[in-house]
Amino acid sequence: MKVLCFSTHEFEQRYLKRWEEYYNLNVVFVETKLNETVVQLARGFDCISCWASDDLSKPVLESLSELGIKMISLRSAGYSHLDLIKAKELGITVTRVPSYSPEAIAEHTLGLLMCINRKYPKAFQRVKDFNFTLDGLEGITIHGKTVGIIGAGQIGLAFARIMKGMGCAILINDVSPRSDIEEELSAHYVDLKTLLKRSDIISLHCPLNERTRHIINSETIELIKPTAFLLNTGRGGLIETQALISKLKKKELRGVGLDVYEYEEDVFFKDHSESGISDEGLLRLMGFPNVLITSHQGFFTKEALDNIAKTSLENIANFSQGKDILKENLLTL
Ligand code: NAI
Repeated sequence: MKVLCFSTHEFEQRYLKRWEEYYNLNVVFVETKLNETVVQLARGFDCISCWASDDLSKPVLESLSELGIKMISLRSAGYSHLDLIKAKELGITVTRVPSYSPEAIAEHTLGLLMCINRKYPKAFQRVKDFNFTLDGLEGITIHGKTVGIIGAGQIGLAFARIMKGMGCAILINDVSPRSDIEEELSAHYVDLKTLLKRSDIISLHCPLNERTRHIINSETIELIKPTAFLLNTGRGGLIETQALISKLKKKELRGVGLDVYEYEEDVFFKDHSESGISDEGLLRLMGFPNVLITSHQGFFTKEALDNIAKTSLENIANFSQGKDILKENLLTL
């Protein structure tokens, strides 16, 4: 079984190599991002491994199928970059890494919140400049506030548990409510409007799909209190960028923490320090003093990287040996 690994980042190499050896696989690692132009690189391979920024849309899948690709192993949990219906139609087996460290993303979400609330980046810079004044660094006490979680799956729940531990009340909006969670966290499942109106901190953790794209849009954003924080470590497309910019321009949000951005594909994971960037939306967001953006690094811990490498290569090993792939790792319609 010959495997081509697209979009291999420097930071994941040593984890991938370790598990490649362990599972006795034959993997060729390339930095190239998969899209229609470069799809021919997959000629001669049986399987490809893909990152969340690779293009797995219909035409790319059709070309991959013509080239004889039988399996796609995603090195991500989310699969909004893949046309699953087409992959199934073409008989391509697709696997993912459903859970690699939900706590890593939840902890990063808390980090974003604390940084925008207590203004740590600014405070750090001031002290570095021997400026020990406090003006402008005032935050709010998080204890006692209401946290609204949209999508309480693995990551949303991990974040809810952290915030419960900090003394917050928890509201949840989820298409599949769970009574055990309601009990464990003394949480309340509410509709989206209620959550947006009542929460002091809103955090997005649902997957990106046709139902959730722009779940925060020009209408729903108006329901959010002007004193609230909005956090997104889910997917950029959950928020309509222009609606967010308009709301921030009106000074109607206390702060925004983003680990993902609607049009991040061409910007994130690359060094633009010499060339600058031309994405107007991102530039505008970066211009607000109460917006903190990180470059999709929520997952970026040793434990998560190791789990991603292990599970994605284990899926390939099982497939190549005709063994059963864990049900939760297999993408089905
Ligand atoms: P999960 O599948 O465990 O949980 C998702 C939850 O969202 C489920 O409880 C589901 O019922 C709920 N949901 C689905 N549709 C909904 C809707 N229309 N409204 C409200 N809730 C809805 O997924 P997990 O592992 O918690 O990941 C969540 C998302 O986090 C992923 O889809 C991915 O987009 C993002 N993610 C971000 C990372 C980062 O580095 N920033 C890393 C990994 C995942």
